[in-house]
Amino acid sequence: MKSVIFDLDGVIVSTDDLHFQAWKSMADRNGIPFDRQINNLLRGVSRAESLEIILRKSEKSYSEQQKQELMQYKNDIYVKLLDNLKHSDILPGVVELINRLKKAGVKIAIGSSSKNTRKILQKIGLETVFDAIADGTEIQHSKPDPEVFLVAARKLETKPENCVVVEDAVAGIEAAKAGNMTAIAIGDAASSSLADYRVNTMMQIAEILNLE
Ligand code: G6P
Ligand code: MG
Repeated sequence: MKSVIFDLDGVIVSTDDLHFQAWKSMADRNGIPFDRQINNLLRGVSRAESLEIILRKSEKSYSEQQKQELMQYKNDIYVKLLDNLKHSDILPGVVELINRLKKAGVKIAIGSSSKNTRKILQKIGLETVFDAIADGTEIQHSKPDPEVFLVAARKLETKPENCVVVEDAVAGIEAAKAGNMTAIAIGDAASSSLADYRVNTMMQIAEILNLE
């Protein structure tokens, strides 16, 4: 029996625009050019690595202490924005797919680089739905390293080769494959040549898994 590990941001709920607003505020305040194209590069990437990508456009160099402050500034705004998240922000087809997986006895987990994972799940009312949650607070290396998915598999007490990962980020598909898992790409991640499957809707995942 396969287990399914879902990425959170961009798969279960779309927080892209909230990350954008928060990073944009930090960047504007510091005179750093930042746009949606750069924001797209941050998908699946940890907060610290996201900042490094943003700072590539900066003429100034920042100390470790200053970087911590910039990340704190961004996260404070982001967390405030998360307060408006609600159950209806769950992406189309997700609740139905989760219900079908549960009915079929498939174990499900979250594997996300976000340190705000639990808050997000709580805001959208899915905090008790998953059999395991692995997030950014538990790992040393973020995607494309497989660590977060391996933690999820361990918590599910299943082997990596029995896990199917659903991801919207190219870095996440790389992480799944590096972890010896099956990788299903949705959205942006479809551009990854490493993906085992590419889907446009959650229901296509039910078909891939041969759910009743
Ligand atoms: C997810 C998002 C990234 C974000 C990362 C860290 O992977 O796709 O865009 O940078 O989480 O999020 P955090 O909530 O810990 O700042
Ligand atoms: Mg994502």
